[in-house]
Amino acid sequence: MNKIKKIDSKEVGLASAIIFGKYFFKTNDLHYGYWPDGLKVDISNITIAQENHSGLILSAIPPEVKSVLDVGCGAGSLASRLIAKGYSVDCVSPSSILTNEAKKLVDNKCEFFESTYEQVETDKKYDIVIFSESFQYIHLANAMQQTVKFLKPGGYMLICDFFKTDAVGESALGGGHDLKEFYSTVVKYPFQLQKDTDITKQTAPNLALIDDMLKQVGHPIWNMLFDFIHSRHPFLYGILLWKFKKKIAKINKKYFSGERNADNFARFKSYRLMLYKKTLQ
Ligand SMILES: C[S@@+](CC[C@H](N)C(=O)[O-])C[C@H]1O[C@@H](n2cnc3c(N)ncnc32)[C@H](O)[C@@H]1O
Repeated sequence: MNKIKKIDSKEVGLASAIIFGKYFFKTNDLHYGYWPDGLKVDISNITIAQENHSGLILSAIPPEVKSVLDVGCGAGSLASRLIAKGYSVDCVSPSSILTNEAKKLVDNKCEFFESTYEQVETDKKYDIVIFSESFQYIHLANAMQQTVKFLKPGGYMLICDFFKTDAVGESALGGGHDLKEFYSTVVKYPFQLQKDTDITKQTAPNLALIDDMLKQVGHPIWNMLFDFIHSRHPFLYGILLWKFKKKIAKINKKYFSGERNADNFARFKSYRLMLYKKTLQ
């Protein structure tokens, strides 16, 4: 019998986010939005906030850059913007669903490495390697080794992503490499820091929106689902509660306890835009 391939839950989450985002907000971005002072934190402004975020990345690219490796390109939104600005772009994308979306958007103008970054093999060299909210998914030392390999001398590594702070306590928000560990790792590689901007304040408002959506939409639907099963299939309901007790408690804590909010994001995460230059010849 054929073995059923286990699908990674993070990839399912990202693929669902793109289906949702495309339908409701007409966006192909999978990153947080950037909310400057004055932009009202409202779901109707999410597309503007996401465009701001991409704009911030584009504005941080040094002028001499021509070729880009977009690692974890999502549905291809940043890659297509880069192409429109005249850069030559290749993409790394381990998710077949997202790769298909990205290929449609970039119209055959990129080479795709359809694997994790850790597994990419190529002799090509780039002026810049960009990680737009994808760095957290990649093994830290491997990310460094691969980036050193794929950059031309004097090339750049741009990371726009969040990291874990050393705040005490248990966070309901997952994701991100440990920031201190990142700093102590990057110094072991031939990189010189050019820029390190803390954009936690401007990205945290996304969590306020997610928290609101979970409260107003997610929680009522989740409860209705349980009420429905209880009323129609009381026996099955009992088994479900018994069999998935821990999982259900975990979901309730993670998504519906109100702990996924902007304050906790700002406490447990540090969202940074970092630019490093490769120093070795
Ligand atoms: C949050 S999305 C960001 C997508 C896109 N860069 C953006 O800003 O909209 C994370 C991306 O990282 C990719 N990813 C996850 N694990 C990866 C890995 N080990 N190597 C390369 N990319 C990875 C996912 O497939 C996805 O495209």
